[in-house]
Amino acid sequence: MARNVVVIGAQWGDEGKGKVVDILSSDAELIVRFQGGNNAGHTLVVDGEKTVLHHIPSGILHPGKLCAIGPGVVIDPEVILREIDALKARRLLADDRDLRLSGSAHVIMPWHRALDLAREESRGGARIGTTGRGIGPCYEDKAARSGIRLADLLDRDVLREKIARSLPEKNVLLAKLYGKEALRAEEILDSHLAYGERLRGYVDDIPRMLGRMEKEARSILFEGAQGALLDVDHGTYPYVTSSSTVAGGACAGAGIGPTRIDTVVGITKAYATRVGAGPFPTELHDEVGRRLQQVGQEFGSTTGRPRRCGWIDAVALRYAVRVSGIDGFVLNKLDVLSGVHPVKIAVAYRLAGEKVFEFPTSVKALEACEPVYEEMEGWSEDVRKARKMSQLPAAARRYLDRIQELTDTEILMVSVGPGREETIRIKNPFD
Ligand code: GDP
Ligand code: IMO
Ligand code: MG
Repeated sequence: MARNVVVIGAQWGDEGKGKVVDILSSDAELIVRFQGGNNAGHTLVVDGEKTVLHHIPSGILHPGKLCAIGPGVVIDPEVILREIDALKARRLLADDRDLRLSGSAHVIMPWHRALDLAREESRGGARIGTTGRGIGPCYEDKAARSGIRLADLLDRDVLREKIARSLPEKNVLLAKLYGKEALRAEEILDSHLAYGERLRGYVDDIPRMLGRMEKEARSILFEGAQGALLDVDHGTYPYVTSSSTVAGGACAGAGIGPTRIDTVVGITKAYATRVGAGPFPTELHDEVGRRLQQVGQEFGSTTGRPRRCGWIDAVALRYAVRVSGIDGFVLNKLDVLSGVHPVKIAVAYRLAGEKVFEFPTSVKALEACEPVYEEMEGWSEDVRKARKMSQLPAAARRYLDRIQELTDTEILMVSVGPGREETIRIKNPFD
């Protein structure tokens, strides 16, 4: 029976969504990105070879699978073309029809990148720590109804007019407010028409394609970017990204009704990380934090920035379960905790002398929260060879059981290394 599955991050991004989508792609016929842009960096390790994808769905290493980018995504044409070229150089994406891009997806223009960087610089100590890819400014223009969509790159007159309408305002901001160089319309028109020509054959009507797949009872896998706590409505605003990263975003961003989604899978690490600024209650500034960063190789896949590391946070995970309707977790990077004694789980926060069990919606409150930890016995064994739960040390199994109990959510899969095969599969969300 066909099933439609949404995979989203349950923390602050970089939970290992790419690895999980790559694995689950064997059971889907179409893999769709629905929000975000090349702020995402999804890493796949297959037969020891590492691939980092920023735009193209993580199903692309499976020859013959359809991969699509929905209207809710923002696309940097230069970046996606580079990604396409890199895949082709490896003899992947042999058939161009396997990659379909929505003509309605908005294009990240050079002024979006320039404004993102200029604004961050001007914010000084109050910066958000964006990836600098122009994501926020692109979504701003989309909401302001002045954005440029992928289909616009296919028509010289439309593109010229749209650039002429946008650029003067952006240049005032760039030059007068931020003291940066103004951008030139003609150069942008030429380069972007050339991108359009190269991308023309990939442009398609994605919601229509989803409708067709559905009618033919073919399974669809939706690949989220970022994570629930970076959601523009439900995350730690303003320290968030500019799109809907919760499971509901899959419907709006890809163009499918909520009644058509069967299962929502939330991805979490065995601990927690955050890259960029903003509150992170369980962050560690000690030896353990440094160890997680080193052993877990916690450096951003997109910007290379070191990721802040801390203990797993059951309060935040329960919140992610609620706002996204997560049916089951995939827990990644269990191997990184080997040798850490004891291991800790935040089970509540202490706020103004009170114990709270709900994730606060205000950043000010969250910043004032002190985690209340439960300590558990750690394990020393290397777990990377484990392929069944019974092959894990008893202490690791107890840790996983306790996370399921505290979040009232089952664990469907446990990852014990970056490789595709370094995985313990408990339950398949497509069954
Ligand atoms: P994504 O953005 O959610 O797809 O995650 P990233 O790819 O940005 O970051 C996850 C990192 O952890 C990548 O480098 C993966 O190769 C790596 N990874 C995923 N699962 C595991 C695991 O179980 N153990 C270890 N050691 N690394 C993992
Ligand atoms: P994946 O899909 C982790 C963070 C940035 C910053 C904030 C806003 O790989 O999990 P933006 O450039 O989106 O305006 O930055 O969001 N951020 C991510 N953090 N993983 C990501 O993607 C992220 N995408 C954005 O670091 O704090
Ligand atoms: Mg990432």
